[in-house]
Amino acid sequence: MPRIYLSSPHMGGAEQALVEDAFRSNWIAPLGPHVDAFEAEVAKYVGVSHAAALSSGTAALHLGLRLLGVERDDEVLCSTLTFSASVNPVVYQGARPVFIDATRSSWNLDPVLLEEEIEAMVKAGKPPRAVVAVDLYGQSVDWVPVKAACDRHGIPVIEDAAEALGATYRGARCGSFGKVSVLSFNGNKIITTSGGGMLLSEDGDLVRRARFLATQARDPAPHYEHSTIGFNYRLSNVCAAIGRGQMRVLEDRVAARRRIFQRYAEALASLPGIEMMPEAAYGRSNRWLSCILVDPAAAGATREDIRLALAKAEIEARPVWKPMHLQPVFEGCRVRGGDVAKDLFDRGLCLPSGSNLADAEQDEVIEIVRGACRASR
Ligand SMILES: Cc1ncc(COP(=O)(O)O)c(C=O)c1O
Repeated sequence: MPRIYLSSPHMGGAEQALVEDAFRSNWIAPLGPHVDAFEAEVAKYVGVSHAAALSSGTAALHLGLRLLGVERDDEVLCSTLTFSASVNPVVYQGARPVFIDATRSSWNLDPVLLEEEIEAMVKAGKPPRAVVAVDLYGQSVDWVPVKAACDRHGIPVIEDAAEALGATYRGARCGSFGKVSVLSFNGNKIITTSGGGMLLSEDGDLVRRARFLATQARDPAPHYEHSTIGFNYRLSNVCAAIGRGQMRVLEDRVAARRRIFQRYAEALASLPGIEMMPEAAYGRSNRWLSCILVDPAAAGATREDIRLALAKAEIEARPVWKPMHLQPVFEGCRVRGGDVAKDLFDRGLCLPSGSNLADAEQDEVIEIVRGACRASR
């Protein structure tokens, strides 16, 4: 049996012709018409005025922090339950992350703890320089209270929507909530450019500045003139062509991932000790990954028992993100709360969720999860 992956690339059919167009026109690199069109199409879909296509979501986060003025010794509040790429760019800037726990109802940033930490920092005379809030596993942050807590003190928010393209919050699309918002088109995301990212903002000057920094910060001059440090962070025209093809099937991909989640829910949620990741009433998750929570006492198996049973059958499943406040690299960083994220990590498992997962493959995953629970009982 071929290996079943957690989330693999899924081409829609139009990508190859668009890539061939890039070849035909010799717009292989740098940049080119597909980059401009990809930016315009994503910005329109998300409902934001400006977008810059970049080499990765991590690059977009890095530029976002830099453009919001995050500097050495600043503190930046971050969701603890996320992938390290949400936080690493804070350290690239020489700043320090401060972690905030998740809520059980959404697995996202807890707005109450966020507000407590902001108020404590303001009172101590050192407010956070920015907040990085992550729409986890394709589910939106609860933006109204998060933005209210930040706006009260003029703290800019970066929305890390790397996993959440196609998701909504109160009818608006994820990727539209930050002063700067970030998308990823990494190979495991809901759509991919093979590797890439995007920075979005209502602030046109900020996005122009992002493009400038992303192309080595070249000042206008016939020779190479630089008055600030730049990066090589732009997306190539070939990758953008893939992205344009993928945008045409984005809604299908969301529907497919939601269907996969639903099939897991129907087959597994009734097992003792197995819960599905909740969907908050305020929005529509894109269900990027289907995650379960395992209560070992009731299920008769730990999430690790289940993961190993799947691995034995060549099926990739992964524990929920290990929280950043438990990562050796962030040892010593402050955290507000942390027990919820730790519990979600200890008991949470992401199951194969790719939009190209066949029903028969998913049925095999389901059988093994069921079997692992039965065997241990
Ligand atoms: C939440 C989150 N933030 C940031 C990133 C980084 O994106 P990229 O891999 O495009 O750099 C990812 C995924 O890789 C992610 O899942």
